[in-house]
Amino acid sequence: MASLYSKNVFLFDAFGTLFKTIPIDDELKKIAGSKSDLLLQIWRRKQLEYSWLRNQMKRYVPFDLITKEALFYAMKKCEIADNRILELLLPIYHQPVLNDGASDLILTLKKLGKQVGILSNGTLEMLRKGAAKTGLNTYLDFIISVDEIGIYKPAPEVYELAQQKTNANLSEILFFSSNQWDVSGASCFGFEVAWVNQYDETKEELPFGQVIEVKSLASAIDLLTA
Ligand code: 2OP
Repeated sequence: MASLYSKNVFLFDAFGTLFKTIPIDDELKKIAGSKSDLLLQIWRRKQLEYSWLRNQMKRYVPFDLITKEALFYAMKKCEIADNRILELLLPIYHQPVLNDGASDLILTLKKLGKQVGILSNGTLEMLRKGAAKTGLNTYLDFIISVDEIGIYKPAPEVYELAQQKTNANLSEILFFSSNQWDVSGASCFGFEVAWVNQYDETKEELPFGQVIEVKSLASAIDLLTA
């Protein structure tokens, strides 16, 4: 497999890639019982759908609001009215937990003298809080939020914003995402993309550019040899 060492700028999607989006305790099961998994699935699906629909309608609102509205919908759909769900689940996006292998990969990249950043649909505030809570803030050269232009990924304008902010050539950038819609958008724009296929997903029937599939963030470290 090709070495990724030649790249200079390594950008990461945030939620689902650098940060976990699945609650790690079983408090949710105590409140939502057997509906827990369905609630989480609907929440994430609606959060993404709402961002894409709002792009289409040119009705941007920040990602923390979309995240809340999607959770309201999921709770209604699952007929759960307990507000403790909000207190339990919304912090996933404000006080996130690092995905496995994330800190090792970022430390390795920094030791190699590479530039590292986040490119996310999250607001700058969400991303800064996440970076501070997980300790990534000392290593990140860029935190790029779509909030600056009011358009969500996978619109090409977002990847263009990242290219401008990093001041790099397209060929110098490697973008990591576990979300296939993001992998499709970024690779069609012209980034080389590492698809972190940690849940062994079936490849979507979407257009893709240059994509390398890795099974985890940790396994990408092996591709960084000169
Ligand atoms: C992101 O962090 C929502 O995962 C998506 O941009």
